[in-house]
Amino acid sequence: MRVLFVTSEVAPLVKTGGLADVSAALPAALRRMGEDVRVLMPGYPQVLRALESFRVAAFFPAVAGLPEARLFASILPDGVPLWVIDCPQLFQREGGIYQDGKGIDWLDNAVRFGLLSKVAAILGGAESPIDWRPDVVHCNDWQTGLTPAYMHFAPGGTPCVMTVHNLAFQGVFAPQTVSELALPIESFQPHGVEYFGNLSFLKAGLYYADHITTVSPTYAAEIQADALGFGLQGLLSGRREQLTGILNGIDDSEWDPANDPMLVKTYHAKKMAGKAANKKELQRRMGLALDPDIPLFGLVSRFTHQKGLDIVLEIAPKLVSAPAQLVLLGSGDAVMQQDAQQLADAYPGQIATVVGFDEKLSHLIEAGADMFLMPSRFEPCGLNQMYSQRYGTPPIVHATGGLLDSVVDYSPTGQNRSEATGFIFQHTTPLDLFACVQRALSAYHDKPLWAALQANGMHKDFSWQKSAEQYREIYSALAK
Ligand code: ADP
Ligand code: GLC
Repeated sequence: MRVLFVTSEVAPLVKTGGLADVSAALPAALRRMGEDVRVLMPGYPQVLRALESFRVAAFFPAVAGLPEARLFASILPDGVPLWVIDCPQLFQREGGIYQDGKGIDWLDNAVRFGLLSKVAAILGGAESPIDWRPDVVHCNDWQTGLTPAYMHFAPGGTPCVMTVHNLAFQGVFAPQTVSELALPIESFQPHGVEYFGNLSFLKAGLYYADHITTVSPTYAAEIQADALGFGLQGLLSGRREQLTGILNGIDDSEWDPANDPMLVKTYHAKKMAGKAANKKELQRRMGLALDPDIPLFGLVSRFTHQKGLDIVLEIAPKLVSAPAQLVLLGSGDAVMQQDAQQLADAYPGQIATVVGFDEKLSHLIEAGADMFLMPSRFEPCGLNQMYSQRYGTPPIVHATGGLLDSVVDYSPTGQNRSEATGFIFQHTTPLDLFACVQRALSAYHDKPLWAALQANGMHKDFSWQKSAEQYREIYSALAK
């Protein structure tokens, strides 16, 4: 099966979150299963710099407000064929891939990701300049949402899958964008790309795609209801027959405590001694008191309302007097960054904050912490709770989305000791989170119980194989 996988970020070339991890691992897993998957993404400077070589494969003339562009063909580090859109005027700029250095969305994001969507539609359609025609086009998040709309109005009939990684980001732009992006004017209606008078990229994708997926079964149900539907619950529940939740896997070779070059010492379920060495190194690097026995909580996250960092900051004073230590790594909201920093300043030796994006430190936190905090208000899938189970660092998570689908709560009655892998709380309030933390702390102090919880998590299979097979089934049903 030939699949064109369209995405705005791919690890390790460029990453702001889990979408990049999925865009690297899922195509690679499908290729290992024998499918011909190729990735299409924008030519940001860090992508072009990272490619060892590439050739010009096609040229796309300007249309309406979309500038001309070239297609470079190359290959990802793990052997997956890669197409990169070269359009310097849209993609060659320093700063973030979605925002400028000050955290403000690039003003021309509609054109930037309109071009990504348009090129994908051309490659998927009958008028492609390339002699490789996909059986399915797989789009991811709002940045690729216009692809199914363009394809609907062009010859070809190639089916499209639209995957929602996060419904909170929709790509909504002023109505005049419709003609700027060369969309047919008849698409601008409620049964089309229009969303309360504006153009919505994500809604377009959800409306025109042949099948919709999202990244966990629980989130697939949650987005059909008001609380987490972000205004699209009507459309999504109307399409529930074509909506599937598939839990993400993780790259279990990159996230493997037995073979992780970013750790000071590797370890595995039968030989856990190395974990203590990583705890010590984490405490040393973060300027925390070097105490092997004090419970150490870790958090790695985008600092946004979604991730619930504010709730952690609220309970932090009680947490350190438990006693416990806390390490926070993340970036995002300026006020949250400041609050997290101030908290660390107020509790030297007990709380440490690193503002920034640091892949290596994130591995050390997974390995060195005793427990991992993930109090997300909503979480389509979430990857860190899976990484932490693999690293013998039981996660403490809110009962939502993929967190609920991937963590087994240690029941207060202790009946499920042979399956439990972490701790789940029901409401994103400081009270509930702290009660859960206390539950985790009392388990932590029961050494045999804790060892069992760690081992349960470390033995779980979070590989991509199973999920990739589910995607393959959807592709083949559509490609018939
Ligand atoms: P989301 O995509 O919503 O941010 P996920 O849990 O799916 O959440 O994925 C986040 C990914 O980004 C994980 O691989 C996580 O380790 C990584 N990550 C997030 N923030 C940082 C950071 N500050 N430094 C290093 N890695 C980070
Ligand atoms: C999004 C979600 C996250 C998910 C990731 C990859 O960023 O917020 O929960 O794991 O996409 O699908």
